[in-house]
Amino acid sequence: MKKTTFTLSALGFALGVVTSGFAVNATAAAPTMSEADFEKGKTMYFQRCAGCHGTLRKGATGKSLEPKNTIKLGQTRLEKIITYGTEGGMNNFDDIMSKAEISLMAKYIQQEPPIPPEMSLALMKERHKVYVEPKDYPTKPMHGRNWKNFFLVIERDVGKIAIIDGDTKEIVAHIPTGYAVHVLKAVEHHNTLHAKDPGRFWYIMGRDGMMTKVDLWAMPDKMKVAQVQVAYDARDVAVSGDGKYVIGGGYWPSHFVILDAKTMAPLKVVSARGVNVEGEYVNESRVAAVYDTPMAPSWLVSMKELGQMWQVDYSDLDNL
Ligand code: HEC
Repeated sequence: MKKTTFTLSALGFALGVVTSGFAVNATAAAPTMSEADFEKGKTMYFQRCAGCHGTLRKGATGKSLEPKNTIKLGQTRLEKIITYGTEGGMNNFDDIMSKAEISLMAKYIQQEPPIPPEMSLALMKERHKVYVEPKDYPTKPMHGRNWKNFFLVIERDVGKIAIIDGDTKEIVAHIPTGYAVHVLKAVEHHNTLHAKDPGRFWYIMGRDGMMTKVDLWAMPDKMKVAQVQVAYDARDVAVSGDGKYVIGGGYWPSHFVILDAKTMAPLKVVSARGVNVEGEYVNESRVAAVYDTPMAPSWLVSMKELGQMWQVDYSDLDNL
């Protein structure tokens, strides 16, 4: 973890919350691990592996890494796979993980996966922060720069984005966001609320479910105007066509959240858990891409494990 500068607290559930009470050595054939190593494995797994293998290790892009499979492969084979990767799409980790970390990781994935906690609307409201009230937003750009030619660049491992002036190639700001930002979306032209300033406000989703709103008209230290965490593992964000709402999709917990686009106050949580196209119940039902539909007051929401696309009408939040 040599390059990773952010700490457990930035990671939400990776945080000791679920530590105690979980059997560290649930399966007889799994190698033993100290509780400290188990915690380390949990954090590394979340940062490096969960995106492809699923938070509950049931498999996604990558195969299932549940103990019933991993114990069969065994420590040596697991270390090899993690070190060198495979031709089938598993990447090699010898460039970012030490031998000791790879060995720890191989042990960790033979343990019973810990169940991460849920996240309620009340908890999201607690974690909601407004740094600049909408009434205090500047009415014109506060810096002399050509903000229409700004670049927003993901600084993955430090959990920031950089704002770069495309005219001068200078870095205007580094803004703390969520970890490993996955998607940034701007309010677009057809958004009536921002018809005069499209591209000014940006909504950013970190993989740790942290959503951040950025105002390109503000001075660098005031650009981050609001933030809220809506999941522990997440990917996408979209603005509604009328500019009133933002939607954030969660991998874990499996839900999507609708927020007030002005303040980022969370308004509604909708579970994505349900029955897939095969008729099986899915608990880890990840919400992947979310997009605004320009011709209707709705978003398209892709439900990975359900095998479904949902069209979510936001014109009446009580009856989506
Ligand atoms: C970019 C996506 C991706 C990431 C990130 C990733 N994997 Fe994989 N992994 C895969 C894919 C795809 C496979 C299936 C490869 C194949 O069939 O050859 C796989 C296979 C594996 C296997 C072999 C499973 C089996 O039954 O053969 C192990 C073990 C594994 N990954 C562990 C890990 C660990 C540990 C991490 C984190 C350090 C990780 N993977 C991160 C995509 C990923």
